[in-house]
Amino acid sequence: MIEDILTEWWERLQTCQSCPIRKEQNKGPTAYTGTVASPLMIVGEGPGGVEDEYGVPLVGPSGQLLDKALWSVGITRDRVYVTNIVKCRPKGNRTPTPEEGRFCAELHLAEEIRLVRPKVIVALGKVAFQFFNGGPGSIMRSRGHWLTYEGIPVMPTYHPAFLLRRTGKDLVESKWQVYYDLKAAVEKAQ
Ligand code: URA
Repeated sequence: MIEDILTEWWERLQTCQSCPIRKEQNKGPTAYTGTVASPLMIVGEGPGGVEDEYGVPLVGPSGQLLDKALWSVGITRDRVYVTNIVKCRPKGNRTPTPEEGRFCAELHLAEEIRLVRPKVIVALGKVAFQFFNGGPGSIMRSRGHWLTYEGIPVMPTYHPAFLLRRTGKDLVESKWQVYYDLKAAVEKAQ
């Protein structure tokens, strides 16, 4: 359900044909989940197969892990606003290039942020981090360190898909890092 403040934004997004990703065998742009009234916005990379099917961001395996991570810091999905840098699914779930990320985010996410006006943003993974960083940078080195975007504090952390690829001690360490990053974001948003 698209809330009133996002109706025009959503209409523009739905008809967007501005970049080649829209033509890469996907069902079109995905919207958001959660609540526009939330002080906390979570920004992922872009829709995968499940998200493309349902038109909703972060509802596949990565989204399910995100839900658990949110739960660990005492918050549920319906109390945050979840969206993506890139709105359409790149072919074969490839990672969008930084240029594609910037192009789509400047066209749609930037306006989404202006309309939703979150108090705090969490950037999941490299593509989201690099957009808010305004250029290249390492998510491994930058996670846990606050950035600012249009006056809004942004906490970069690992993408759940990265956690899904980790094993053993690395996985345990990364999960704790995400926990501390999300905890810091939730506390700042209060
Ligand atoms: N990964 C993301 O970053 N976003 C989605 O919507 C799905 C997978």
